[in-house]
Amino acid sequence: MQEKLSIHGAWTSRWIFILAATGSAVGLGNIWKFPYITGENGGGAFVLVYLVCILLVGIPIMVSEVLIGRRGRQSPINSMKDVAVESGHTSRWSLVGWVGALAGVMIFSFYSVVAGWVLYYVAGMGNGDFIDIGSEMAGKRFESLLGDPETLLIWHSAFVVMVMAVVAGGVNKGLERATRIMMPALFVLLFILLGYSMTTGAFGQGFDFLFHFDPSQLSWNAVLVALGHSFFTLSLGMGSIMAYGSYMPKKASIGGTVLMIALLDTLVALVAGLAIFPIVFANQLDPGAGPGLMFITLPVAFGQMPGGHIFGFLFFVLIAVAAWTSAISLMEPAVAWMVEKFGIKRVPACSILGLIVWTLGIACLGSFNFMADFKIAGMNFFDLMDFATANIMLPLGGLFIALFAGWKVKQTILKNELSLQNELWFYAWYVAIRYIAPVAVAAIFALNLYNKLA
Ligand code: PHE
Ligand code: NA
Repeated sequence: MQEKLSIHGAWTSRWIFILAATGSAVGLGNIWKFPYITGENGGGAFVLVYLVCILLVGIPIMVSEVLIGRRGRQSPINSMKDVAVESGHTSRWSLVGWVGALAGVMIFSFYSVVAGWVLYYVAGMGNGDFIDIGSEMAGKRFESLLGDPETLLIWHSAFVVMVMAVVAGGVNKGLERATRIMMPALFVLLFILLGYSMTTGAFGQGFDFLFHFDPSQLSWNAVLVALGHSFFTLSLGMGSIMAYGSYMPKKASIGGTVLMIALLDTLVALVAGLAIFPIVFANQLDPGAGPGLMFITLPVAFGQMPGGHIFGFLFFVLIAVAAWTSAISLMEPAVAWMVEKFGIKRVPACSILGLIVWTLGIACLGSFNFMADFKIAGMNFFDLMDFATANIMLPLGGLFIALFAGWKVKQTILKNELSLQNELWFYAWYVAIRYIAPVAVAAIFALNLYNKLA
């Protein structure tokens, strides 16, 4: 029988799928967001909860997304629909894909603003602007960037165009090649930075901050943030991994590839934390400094290293690339759907979507200057996009994907797609996806709601 393939293309091998999905997973979530939310939420206890969420919730849901995508062989919206119908259920399950595509656009809008900061730092490092910069100057420099909407707009626009250009080219070409070269380079540079942070004299303090378990630091809100981040960092709950799964060869094993992707993503986050916190403590900076953490600590570190502006330049280039390969996957579900639905080419589909993201992004970058006073529930627009997606839409999307895979999809389909040699693995996953993941997500939501109301 001829293998059914997606009209959008297919990865040429299992390894390309792993690299592409790792490209989606490894991004600003690991290098920018993980260190600063760990700092804001007190360190070690938060990290532990996050790791538990990855293992018990993230990995089983990632398996489900890849499985549904590969079975449906279309955009998440249409894959959800077809797999539901194939299992004898209503086509309304496509709603999960819809909410996911919307979340992708919303995440992209603030993601692109941060990626724009990264591009600005690439240019600054290339110029030698940060040579010998102290922590105070580095802080001021970041603040003045945030206060300057025109500069922010230039770099935000540049990033949106970069992403559009690749997605317009299709799945196979630009993305595959870029990931294959850039991902290994990212790992090498991350370890160089780690090596540097070991020489700051505060490595132990940074390590302690990340891994010392102090339960008194934990709040229910921190647990929600950890859960939300486990979805965000693995690109789950909104269809990116489902879309990538729809291009995966049938003969590749889903379980093994997913474990590999989750492992790499977790490794990068921990190494980024181990690289950044010692620098924070060595320079008496505040670990709870928020979104600016990386943009202040890294220039300080690189500014003092011999030849540091070269490393700094390369490092910010690589963060930009990591952000770039992730943002591509934020756009892919909606673009694939538009191509399927309207029979249009990728170029117009990307242009329409890019324009929407770009406009929303202006409101995000304005949150730091001309729209600073616009607040909903105490959050500016940037924070609102982040909060609504990472802490609400992704976990809810993940909850419904878990319920769908665990309770609605026919067992014969599950077993056929997973084709696990060992039945035990299948049942371990099945228990996690039917019970553990949905109960954990629902319980964390309920407790937070209760605490907010009480
Ligand atoms: N996983 C990416 C990161 O860690 C962000 C992302 C979220 C990408 C959701 C795609 C979908 O930066
Ligand atoms: Na990530």
